[in-house]
Amino acid sequence: MRKHKFADTDQPVHWGVLKQLVPYLMEFRGRVFFALMCLVAAKAASTGLPFVLKYAVDSLNTPNSQGSVLLAVPMALVIGYGVLRLFNVMLGEIRDTLFGRVTERAMRRVGREVFDHLHKLDLSFHLDRQTGGLSRDIERGTSGIGFLMRFMVFNIVPTLLEIVFVVGLLYWNYGISFALILLAAVVAYVTFSVKATHWRTRYVREMNQADSSSNSRAIDSLINYETVKYFNNEAYESARYDEDLAKWELARRKNRLSLFALNGGQAVIIASAMTGMMALAAWHVSQGSMTIGDFVLMNAFTMQIFMPLNFLGFVYREIRGSLANIENMLGLLKKQPAVTDEPNATELRVSQGLIRFENVSFAYQPERPILHALSFTLAPGQKVAVVGASGSGKSTLVKLLFRFYDVTAGSISIDGQDIRSVSQLSLRKHIGIVPQDTVLFNDSIRENIRYGNPNASDSEIEQAIDHAHLRGFIDKLPDGLATLVGERGLKVSGGEKQRIAIARTLLKRPPILVFDEATSSLDSHAEQAIVSAIAQVAKGHTSMVIAHRLSTIVDADNILVMDNGKLVEQGSHQQLLAKQGHYAQLWQRQQGQSKQNPEELSQVG
Ligand SMILES: Nc1ncnc2c1ncn2[C@@H]1O[C@H](COP(=O)(O)OP(=O)(O)OP(=O)(O)O)[C@@H](O)[C@H]1O
Ligand SMILES: [Mg+2]
Repeated sequence: MRKHKFADTDQPVHWGVLKQLVPYLMEFRGRVFFALMCLVAAKAASTGLPFVLKYAVDSLNTPNSQGSVLLAVPMALVIGYGVLRLFNVMLGEIRDTLFGRVTERAMRRVGREVFDHLHKLDLSFHLDRQTGGLSRDIERGTSGIGFLMRFMVFNIVPTLLEIVFVVGLLYWNYGISFALILLAAVVAYVTFSVKATHWRTRYVREMNQADSSSNSRAIDSLINYETVKYFNNEAYESARYDEDLAKWELARRKNRLSLFALNGGQAVIIASAMTGMMALAAWHVSQGSMTIGDFVLMNAFTMQIFMPLNFLGFVYREIRGSLANIENMLGLLKKQPAVTDEPNATELRVSQGLIRFENVSFAYQPERPILHALSFTLAPGQKVAVVGASGSGKSTLVKLLFRFYDVTAGSISIDGQDIRSVSQLSLRKHIGIVPQDTVLFNDSIRENIRYGNPNASDSEIEQAIDHAHLRGFIDKLPDGLATLVGERGLKVSGGEKQRIAIARTLLKRPPILVFDEATSSLDSHAEQAIVSAIAQVAKGHTSMVIAHRLSTIVDADNILVMDNGKLVEQGSHQQLLAKQGHYAQLWQRQQGQSKQNPEELSQVG
């Protein structure tokens, strides 16, 4: 099993990611503006609160001429305090409701963009990736965006503004000493938080990495449920999963301990500053230079400043985490597909369906060449068969024709147009493939067939079903076409799956057809029926048929015999038999087997 890869484990966080979020904010300018207005009003209300409190305390504390306290003024102030509080909270709620729409839209857009991009990336990227880890990365990235937008706009900037505001007010009303203590505390707090958070980032990343890789492993193991059972390997799987979970647990522990250090340090700074300010206020009160109300105000202000500041520590940490997650996800967006459309790619036009492979060489990895300078032609309307030992590169030919990969040398052209010069979309539109290993969507049979052409009418689907000899099977099903095929189509038999795949491709009606072992899972009776159906459908189309069982391709116009990535022979069945070479040998061997077992022609390879 491959380890889940992280692109940027030790890179610094790039704040530039933030810039990419601006367009999403601009999309809802009005909303963002109103949300900001709510924010400003709420902050004004909250800054007023300590003052109202101060006057309430002072008016309670000032006896009138009769020596008793007049209740009207403090009562009015208390009610004012309540109203301001409510105002403050309600404005916050309104702000969040207004802004929610903006973050959700941004998350939707980014989610879709990444999804589209993943489909643009080439096959080799997907073969190297682990779906479980990938989905976790996307999940963390999109929720990171939501978090970042909300807190950047409504937390960091406003809290900093509020601090400046309050420091100014304190200086204005009570002189330099209180303002200085507060300012020093804020600076110490921010410096400490930034440094400590930076130090902790490592542990956070380790934790995410452990999270993704344990998720990858769990998904991979569950996808291979049957294989696990075939080999009685539940305990082995569980042990391996637990190994990953143990790493995750350890990473969590380190993360928690470092968090403890961070929070502890922050608490020490806050407590010292608060004690200092309160002590100074108490001294002033004892000296008569401040009232009890001032003392209460000071308490309220320090609480009011340090609470959001404390929160800021959390937000800063989360934002760093979010930035790393977003970056990880945007890193996916930056990944360039190996196979791309040329800037001036044209639309493929298929007039006759002449396919030409010229000196095609190919390697999945540079150090292991698979195809060696192959040249052959598929004449318009011809049925061309490809035979050869397993691993000789037959399916690779199909992948190259479909442009899952680009050839290493040489070229492939259709009706004179190099397939690299046309758009992938137009190329793939013209080619229908029944792949060697058909995988179905976990949906109904009808939807799986309709996938060949989402606009197909029901009667066209019925027709495709008849052509693919699926009728008998579907009639037997209690739910008919609505039957669900299960995860990857495992609830239908291999032969049924192949016929569904054939029906799906027939529905697409492309001018060029490729069948890669399309009948390998069928018994010889069903096979003959399908082979003749395919022949009927393929009439007038250029088709390529890859087969192990030579009996299914004796009627081919041309047979290409491959061995070890080289084209060793070609010709019609009769010509090749007369040659007494590779093909003749293969034929002889299969004939021998079929005499021993006439019902079932077994496969070579
Ligand atoms: N994505 C890949 N990365 C690396 N090597 C690959 C990849 N896909 C296939 N190969 C290798 O390329 C060679 C040719 O594979 P290919 O699937 O074309 O064989 P084939 O002729 O279709 O065989 P079969 O008859 O068994 O289907 C094989 O040796 C295989 O291991
Ligand atoms: Mg193959």
